[in-house]
Amino acid sequence: MARFLVTGGAGYVGSHVVLALKERGDDVVVIDDLRQGHRAAIPEGVELVVADLADRARVADVLAGWKFDGVLHFAALSLVGESMREPLRYITENLSNTLGLADAAIKAGCQRFVLSSTAALFGFPERLPIDEGCRLGPVSAYGESKLMAERGLEWAERVHGLRSASLRYFNAAGADPQGRLGEDHNPETHLIPLAINAALGLGPELTLFGTDYDTPDGTCIRDYVHVTDLADAHLRVLGVLEQGRSVRYNVGNGSGYSVREVIDTVQRVTGRPVPYRTGPRRLGDPAVLVASNTLLREETGWTPQYAALEDIVRTAYAWRAAHPHGFDDSARPVAA
Ligand SMILES: NC(=O)c1ccc[n+]([C@@H]2O[C@H](COP(=O)([O-])OP(=O)(O)OC[C@H]3O[C@@H](n4cnc5c(N)ncnc54)[C@H](O)[C@@H]3O)[C@@H](O)[C@H]2O)c1
Repeated sequence: MARFLVTGGAGYVGSHVVLALKERGDDVVVIDDLRQGHRAAIPEGVELVVADLADRARVADVLAGWKFDGVLHFAALSLVGESMREPLRYITENLSNTLGLADAAIKAGCQRFVLSSTAALFGFPERLPIDEGCRLGPVSAYGESKLMAERGLEWAERVHGLRSASLRYFNAAGADPQGRLGEDHNPETHLIPLAINAALGLGPELTLFGTDYDTPDGTCIRDYVHVTDLADAHLRVLGVLEQGRSVRYNVGNGSGYSVREVIDTVQRVTGRPVPYRTGPRRLGDPAVLVASNTLLREETGWTPQYAALEDIVRTAYAWRAAHPHGFDDSARPVAA
């Protein structure tokens, strides 16, 4: 059994990883200030420390108080649009919290660090599918903040020997197939939950941004990776770090789906129409973003189990239908 510190473990991706760690028998401590996360997303037996990562003394105390085998760092500001209104806040907060946490981990003798990075590092990609060798060129302050965080971790390795994995997620989607966890953001900005909410009458009609892209149906194509597959990637990557080297992986399904395909699938799965209107393109939205997951597959044996859009939407819908108002009025998820 190993022990891990998970920042942002009450949030969407982090909570699914916490559940996966608990299920394989690891001990987990979560730091989350609950600005977006939910207490009810933390399984029984997991200690929750409610604290802002900016509270360096508290973070150092937590790291010094337990002996951790690794840190998984999910807590961040992560809204692309907001980052273009408040670029300095995004860059300052995401970078300083990541490096402050890495520094505390090094001082506490913890040598494994996993960073939630993003496909936004690649901006308008130079080729498709996007492999790890593609040019890095974020077009948002959010993407820039994660690129800077990755670079800081490279220095932490060179000088202090901290082994890290930077996982560039594409679009995390879906929910725990057993229905214990789901996606509950406020505000919600992700396409699949927005489309489901619109279909169920739980949210406003959907806006489809741009119908004149150079794609088969004119709408943007994105790579949706199931959150349970994403969690599995984290577990495998912890094993790679144990072997003593730092890694960077693109974590995506490897196939893309258009916005219209998402709407069609949500309509089929829910059996209800998705009310939507069309709007102009959004600035900074490339036509197609699809990951090459070859490196991750070859080096870790990872294979997505829920790659079909139907499975992704079905699990997301099942959770939302059972929890129309999210975690706040739902029962605590069953213990792992
Ligand atoms: N969801 C995606 O599709 C996606 C894609 C690419 C990258 N990412 C990255 O993955 C990570 C997790 O994303 P998510 O969708 O689960 O986000 P989320 O907002 O659901 O979870 C983040 C959690 O961190 C907590 N948090 C934020 N700032 C904090 C701070 N300063 N101190 C303590 N806790 C804090 C929030 O309360 C929340 O529980 C983020 O770093 C994000 O940038 C997500």
